[in-house]
Amino acid sequence: MLETLASSRIPFMDRFSKVGANGLGFHTTGEEATKSLDLKNKTIVVTGANSGLGLETVRVLSLRGATVIGMARTIEKANSVRSVANEQFIPLECDLSEPSSITQSAEDLVRSGTQIDSIICNAGIMALPKLQQKHGVELQFLTNHIGHFMLVSLLGPILTNKARVTVVSSSAHKVFSYHDGIQFDNFSGNKHYSPQKAYGHSKLANLLFAIELAKRLQTTNQTANAVHPGVIRTNLLRHYNPVIKYGSIIIEKLLFKNVHEGAATQIYVSAHPDLKRVNGKYFSNCNIKEASTHGKDQVMAEKLWVYSEKIVNEISQGNDWKD
Ligand SMILES: NC(=O)c1ccc[n+]([C@@H]2O[C@H](COP(=O)([O-])OP(=O)(O)OC[C@H]3O[C@@H](n4cnc5c(N)ncnc54)[C@H](OP(=O)(O)O)[C@@H]3O)[C@@H](O)[C@H]2O)c1
Repeated sequence: MLETLASSRIPFMDRFSKVGANGLGFHTTGEEATKSLDLKNKTIVVTGANSGLGLETVRVLSLRGATVIGMARTIEKANSVRSVANEQFIPLECDLSEPSSITQSAEDLVRSGTQIDSIICNAGIMALPKLQQKHGVELQFLTNHIGHFMLVSLLGPILTNKARVTVVSSSAHKVFSYHDGIQFDNFSGNKHYSPQKAYGHSKLANLLFAIELAKRLQTTNQTANAVHPGVIRTNLLRHYNPVIKYGSIIIEKLLFKNVHEGAATQIYVSAHPDLKRVNGKYFSNCNIKEASTHGKDQVMAEKLWVYSEKIVNEISQGNDWKD
């Protein structure tokens, strides 16, 4: 019975699904997903490193010996991550809603001669109650998608030839998305704004970024994939519905993962040698999962790429984006 429900499209029933062929599933933690891995020669960038899933991701990758470059909005926040990391940890300031900050952090890395094996685009904000804009762009779309699009583009020249890009999306890309997908005439949010839909919109953009990047990497040994981490009680929920935010035992039991389970999929996808040839997939519970129809739409993904370049170009010159 539970298995039948789990294989249905009810997201919270995922917890009753079996583990995949790789032996990993809903309850797998990041430590279990990387058991006996030696990541000593790997350099991995994690955005949003100071909180929630990012912090746990840094902790586990550091435990396995990786050199982690932990990015956060301020250098103080990036430095705070040292307590969970190993000695090689490199803190870096990068505000993903500010083109100048993204450019500065990328230039610092390029100048330092660093070679990057993996980037985890993890930082995010969710469900801002009122429309907020920066540089003329709705803030969730700007931070969650455009900031990462720009960062990955600038770091392209220092990616190793087998580098991986892992973009943290969400099942919100289908649960909360607009029926026609990316809103090409409303990146500002001026035409309409809903806190949840704007979040789903940014998470659909994350997924489409990963599949378009994967297409562009097809002839190389580099890869790009997207993940849904699950539902986890982190600071992300700060603007959210009080029932979800403060929860109840029933909601907690049915819906939520703990942070160790929540970080597992992005840790696994970004670092596990079994996935070195896997490109352009959407993962959940450490296994490949079917994305929504829009989430697989390569035409929409290509169009988003073109618009993302236009937005980056405009706001990098100090102009506001105009829909
Ligand atoms: N938690 C869930 O249930 C869930 C479900 C699906 C997907 N996700 C995704 O998982 C990722 C991690 O979320 P989380 O749950 O770990 O949330 P979190 O604890 O709130 O962490 C989010 C991180 O993003 C950073 N961030 C926000 N705005 C930024 C900006 N302008 N520049 C740089 N960094 C910025 C935050 O920094 P500050 O501390 O300075 O705010 C924080 O470090 C997000 O992409 C989220 O969409 C989470």
